Amino acid sequence: MTDILGISAFYHDSAACLVRDGTVLAAVQEERFTRKKQDAGFPGNAIRYCLREANCALTDLRYMVFYDKPLVKFERLLETYLSFAPRGRRSFVTAMPVWLKEKLFLKSLLCKELAALAGVKKSALPPLLFTEHHEAHAASAFFPSPFRTAAVLCMDGVGEWATTSAWLGQDNQLTPLWDIPFPHSLGLLYSAFTYYTGFKVNSGEYKVMGLAPYGAPKYVQTIYDHLLDLKSDGTFRLNMDYFNYCTGLTMTNERFHALFGGPPRPPESLLRQQDMDLARSIQDVTEEIMVRLARTMQRETGADNLCLAGGVALNCVGNGRILREGLFQDLWIQPAAGDAGGAVGAALAAWHQLDEQPRVSRPAGHDGMQGAFLGPAFSNAEIEQFLKAQDAPYMRLSDAELYDRIATELASEKVIGWFQGRMEFGPRALGARSIIGDARSPKMQSVMNLKIKYRESFRPFAPSVLRDMLLVAPVVESRRTAMTAAQQALWGIDLLNVPRSDIPAVTHVDYSARIQTVHAETNPHYYRLLKAFEAKTGYGVIVNTSFNVRGEPIVCTPEDAYRCFMRTEIDTLVLGNCVLDKIDQKPLVEDTDWRKEFALD
Ligand SMILES: [Fe+2]
Repeated sequence: MTDILGISAFYHDSAACLVRDGTVLAAVQEERFTRKKQDAGFPGNAIRYCLREANCALTDLRYMVFYDKPLVKFERLLETYLSFAPRGRRSFVTAMPVWLKEKLFLKSLLCKELAALAGVKKSALPPLLFTEHHEAHAASAFFPSPFRTAAVLCMDGVGEWATTSAWLGQDNQLTPLWDIPFPHSLGLLYSAFTYYTGFKVNSGEYKVMGLAPYGAPKYVQTIYDHLLDLKSDGTFRLNMDYFNYCTGLTMTNERFHALFGGPPRPPESLLRQQDMDLARSIQDVTEEIMVRLARTMQRETGADNLCLAGGVALNCVGNGRILREGLFQDLWIQPAAGDAGGAVGAALAAWHQLDEQPRVSRPAGHDGMQGAFLGPAFSNAEIEQFLKAQDAPYMRLSDAELYDRIATELASEKVIGWFQGRMEFGPRALGARSIIGDARSPKMQSVMNLKIKYRESFRPFAPSVLRDMLLVAPVVESRRTAMTAAQQALWGIDLLNVPRSDIPAVTHVDYSARIQTVHAETNPHYYRLLKAFEAKTGYGVIVNTSFNVRGEPIVCTPEDAYRCFMRTEIDTLVLGNCVLDKIDQKPLVEDTDWRKEFALD
């Protein structure tokens, strides 16, 4: 048997992945089933789905592979405690009972859960293996990439010890080059500023990145003078006198707060110019580190290509900087760059590194992630069965009718819930579970943020354009709109209301855009919709945001999508070939304070 199950769990964003003969058949995050954002529990639903998709039983598997080594992580916790004792006592006392009870005995916990899932005794389970955390990230970045040889850079908060690691990928082998150990961590440095500016650690980092263009890099020198010793090769050490994550239960301490003039911004309170300036400063420092590390890797490996993974690789603005520096001919980023992607890496590491199986040959330029469409799909028959059970009025259209009608609705500024084919793996919606709108509409950014997603108005949206993702590029000069003198005098969040181009909904205040290019082979429905919209308007670009409200995981099933449609001001819902108009629907009978269902992210 060649089927391998990869598992990421018990930290944040649990996921499962199934690899057959070196090809990723299925991958999905547990949150999509439990509807609990970044669910860190045992991914039982995700595993069941992967097995169903591959039509195999758990007991048929060659291996089950977990994405980190719990005992090494325990060693790190213990050593950190000892080196910071007695200051670390509080966090130690909080963390240890959990670790001792649950995580230290993780192997037996995993075996127990897996045996229960399969309905067999533990002794009947296939072998359970463990990769190192960064090895899983590196494998997820290199093995599905289109490259035979590449430098591989992983950056995250922390796994066992490594927080940044450098690898050389050649065919079916990954060779470790060097790493930067805990507590010196680019991911945790960024998270410290995420915490200090009032956002949630492990999910608000993306907001800090989106806020950065509204600010000035006022604190860059302060960061270099006090918090960070950055070497010319990109390696760094943090000054732990300013951080609390080794010893306490917060990210930053009083000394950090004094350095920036006060306590952290309370969550959900008004954003200040200082928060924007801090966001811009940490973003600039992060980009500088990313570029220096990439340059060092190019010099040391001589590779033409670079692969990225780890949570920091979700910083698409930093990735865009690396690309534009021209250090490498090509760049490939694991779409599930955070810990969910560790499930893919763990399975592929066992197949290539342990079993020494060759890489799968693919056409030039093609990667092994199938456009990240690796989750559940629902047929028109299943969708209609659900809609009939709901007694929800809908129309089933042919493909041609569907694309034409939705292109027309988009052009008249309607907001569309778009649900097609297999769900995306990773944090970004790419046209399978998306809310979409007309990028030319000046009101679209605020309508989508405030009336659809119920989230902060400054958050930028991504354009989907015909013809890789996780990158940020500047909008061309010819499409930009020059600012008047009065507009140029504006600062901070006031800049939000100044149209920056003829596609204002997707042009950020610094003229950047978080581009997703849409390919006919991997994303045929979405591609054809964009084609229809282009034929009607001359613009092959639309706004795309994930199909969810703030704090909710991306919708998975027709039921999730219908509920989100009914709770928000989305005008039209498309489920496969079925179209639902909001005005035809009878109001959803349910509790009125449903928003409490999802904790704010
Ligand atoms: Fe990680």
